[in-house]
Amino acid sequence: MNAQFMLNGQPASIECAPDESLMTVLRRAGLRSVKHGCESGECGACSILVDGRLTPTCLLLTPQAQGRTLETVEALDGGPGRSLHPLQQAFAETGAIQCGYCTPAMELAAKALLEREPRPTESQVREALAGVLCRCTGYVKPVEAVQRAAAVLRGEIVPPIQPDGGLTLDAVFGPLRSSPDPDSPETGGTTLTGVRTITFPTVDTRTRTDVVGRPEMKVDAVKLAKGKPVFADDMDLPGMLHATLLTSPHAHARITRIDAAKAKALPGVRAVLTHHDVPRVIYASGGQTWPNPKPWDQVSLDNKVRHVGDRVAVVAADTPEIAREALALIEVDYEPLPAVFEPRWAMAPGAPVIHDEPDAVGVHDRARNIAATIHANIGDVERGLAEADHTFERTYTVQQVQQAAIEPHICATYWDEDERLIVRTSTQVPFHVRRMLAPLIGLPVKRIRVIKPRIGGGFGGKQEMLIEDLCAHLTIATGRPVRFEYTREQEFTSARSRHPMEVKYRAGVMKDGTLHALDMHVISNTGAYGTHGLTVCSVTGLRGLATYKSPHQRFVGEIVYTNRPTPGAFRGYGAPQAEFALESLMEEIAQELGWDAVEFRLKNAVRVGDPIAVTAALGEGTSEESQAQIVQTCGLPQCVEQGAAAIHWDRKYDAAWRVDPARPHIRRGLGMAACMHGTAIPGLDMGGASIKLNDDGSFNVLVGATDLGTGSDTVLAQIAAETLGAALNDVIIYSSDTDFTPFDTGAYASSTTFISGGAVKKAAEQVRAQIFERAALMLRTDLAGLTLKDRRVTAPDGRSVTLEAVALDSLHTQDQRQIMATASHVSPHSPPPFGAQYAEVEVDTETGQVTVMKLVMAVDCGTAINPLTTQGQIEGGLAQALGYAVCEEMVFDEAGRSLATRFGDYRVLQADEVPAIEAILVPTYEPSGPFGAKAAAEIPMDGVAPAVANAVFDAVGVRLRDLPLTPEKIWRALHPQA
Ligand code: FES
Repeated sequence: MNAQFMLNGQPASIECAPDESLMTVLRRAGLRSVKHGCESGECGACSILVDGRLTPTCLLLTPQAQGRTLETVEALDGGPGRSLHPLQQAFAETGAIQCGYCTPAMELAAKALLEREPRPTESQVREALAGVLCRCTGYVKPVEAVQRAAAVLRGEIVPPIQPDGGLTLDAVFGPLRSSPDPDSPETGGTTLTGVRTITFPTVDTRTRTDVVGRPEMKVDAVKLAKGKPVFADDMDLPGMLHATLLTSPHAHARITRIDAAKAKALPGVRAVLTHHDVPRVIYASGGQTWPNPKPWDQVSLDNKVRHVGDRVAVVAADTPEIAREALALIEVDYEPLPAVFEPRWAMAPGAPVIHDEPDAVGVHDRARNIAATIHANIGDVERGLAEADHTFERTYTVQQVQQAAIEPHICATYWDEDERLIVRTSTQVPFHVRRMLAPLIGLPVKRIRVIKPRIGGGFGGKQEMLIEDLCAHLTIATGRPVRFEYTREQEFTSARSRHPMEVKYRAGVMKDGTLHALDMHVISNTGAYGTHGLTVCSVTGLRGLATYKSPHQRFVGEIVYTNRPTPGAFRGYGAPQAEFALESLMEEIAQELGWDAVEFRLKNAVRVGDPIAVTAALGEGTSEESQAQIVQTCGLPQCVEQGAAAIHWDRKYDAAWRVDPARPHIRRGLGMAACMHGTAIPGLDMGGASIKLNDDGSFNVLVGATDLGTGSDTVLAQIAAETLGAALNDVIIYSSDTDFTPFDTGAYASSTTFISGGAVKKAAEQVRAQIFERAALMLRTDLAGLTLKDRRVTAPDGRSVTLEAVALDSLHTQDQRQIMATASHVSPHSPPPFGAQYAEVEVDTETGQVTVMKLVMAVDCGTAINPLTTQGQIEGGLAQALGYAVCEEMVFDEAGRSLATRFGDYRVLQADEVPAIEAILVPTYEPSGPFGAKAAAEIPMDGVAPAVANAVFDAVGVRLRDLPLTPEKIWRALHPQA
């Protein structure tokens, strides 16, 4: 049929099937700002304006749009001479764009609001944005962006984001026409009120910097604000096939017969692959450094399934509809096996054996379903407990949660003209994917090229070689390009998640309040496969024993198979589990011994110069040097102080504040947690960077690092620009493509700024040395005293040459050569960032409902290379961590079927549900990091859950040791007799 409507101001007539969604049709028409995030209209990423109202298009059949007026971000017009609409500009310059996958829909939601309400309140903005889920930002900066754009559209002047200069949109596109000139006679210099001035702390970079330490706009912000086709799915190839996955309905079963004949006979089906069709090659899917940690317990397609949602068969067909139809025609006979979902039962004698296949490698104890174990000892913990004046024993449990990136896993594979396999995939680990994929598909590494486009959020979920092998098998089988994307349901049933754990602590404390022994026993549920199980659990031990000094420590970790969907890497990587237990424990000990809980923490916390003993016992690093970690910078006391001031900690002791006479069932409380994370894996994480000078004095910077929306491309470009005396917009950064960019282990372990940034700095220093040599030749002077700044090399006598002149001379004139360098960086250090997390709550004693009113986190991440993106990371992390604390949970029925397979059931927080969030940067200067930087991306995940639990205790006196802190649990704790 032909659907006719007004599309972006023009009459449009589009061919479509009667049952095609408007999302599919618009994307096929080239409007790639319309994103797929789910199939139930709940994430809002596909939303456009239909007759001026924000409308999800995944649910809207195209014929329903007949005669309507449709508007997408492609039509947002900044007006004459301008590239961006004020909304797009505000989103870009306030840092409201992280991965950018939700941005077009957010901008449209804001546009609809501002058209009906030019001066919206914050709650109106939040309500308007509530239809679009954002997993990255915590909505703090999007709300600021809408208010800023509203002011601009009202003709007001907005305060600058960068009072000290640097790359601004005005520098790129000219000043906003809709902003009156403050100095013009017409405006009389009127300034806006109502939009807060965005300011950042002074960053200690040790020397004055021009680009580093400044809130520069993200280098990819403009294209993301415009909804350009930059993601993995935003491409078309002639003859592209569509893949779908048949998944297991059983938690544990043997496939006794599988027959794909009927599916293969369906017209339009090009391939159906089962375990009969692909080679059986054992691997582990976690995207980790070679050799992947054991166990290796997976194959591409198996004759046994180990969880509901496990792989059974994969289909490639001409259309997604045919592919889905084919799934129903695959005949599978299962022999159901007893299933087990809890680790303690899985380890018990007689439990069903989940990995009974003979070819799995490195399974610790098959009969007891133990994938791996970890043991680490410092001192003698039993002696330490015996010597202690007070001993404590507590057990905490944490649930399984999902990364819930708005962009699902998506991959496209195709042969190029040289018969090399191209893999365009949304991955955090392109180099690991290439290496791990090669043996599975029987191609050498040199015949595989992995391209990482922009990523719509990963949070660890894409640190996995999850779908690339199946997509590649289909391209090999058909010779055709294949596109494979998970549905949202498959994200919940067949992707990765965070490990649920049971964490048991025993602690010994002396009379003077010093910790004397800390014993930690973790049972981690790794689901059906081992993948990241071992390393996540070792980080749980690291984070659970590193923050506080104790002469006697022990860690025992048991990583246990069950028939749950497999957990993997998730931002924080084992730390949030540990920190909930540790920071609840510290509070409990302090309360029982009569200590102020903050003082008790600071008394025992590591300080500058302290060794972190447990890193030697549990670190992944390969060299001895890499494991002897000494704290060189620690801003924890300052974080505690500044965070306390921001949350008004003194209210904790104000009896009047703690109750509300108008609502007698409400109690208020405050809680805190101290946090310590790591920065990269010492002696193991490695990054490479390559930099070359172009004719006009600009630079190409190629990095293997993977920006998954965190802003790492911007940060790395800032490091290059600073070192090379260039402006940020003179640096063209590209990440990442295994053919063209140097190796990098990938985006995980809070490593990119520290490790890849170190590589960029080294390469830039080498390029700078070559520039000096050339400039000295041109100026007929020696190297001593040359300086490089503002795109110019200047000699001590004041003569100078521009970078452009240096480039032209080197490339075209004398002693011709390309000024360029490549460098690698690996560090023996893993400097810990520190943080103090505060939460303010209200608890309804009648319903058990906890309402988090405010979250404050003060973070010592060393030098914030870009305070704007760093703050954004913290704000977004806090919102994610709040979901972990109070509402997110993967729930299963007794057969192992997930009960939450949609965003609506799972409850990712919306814009109007997130409390006030404040991120404070506490600068220190870390000598081992580039320009003094440590990490910031993961630490905000660590402290929210214990801070909220501690606040709930403060409010109503009940201690919850099991996440999430649901109203039912709180109510039951408040009413134990009920
Ligand atoms: Fe909103 Fe990533 S920026 S989902």
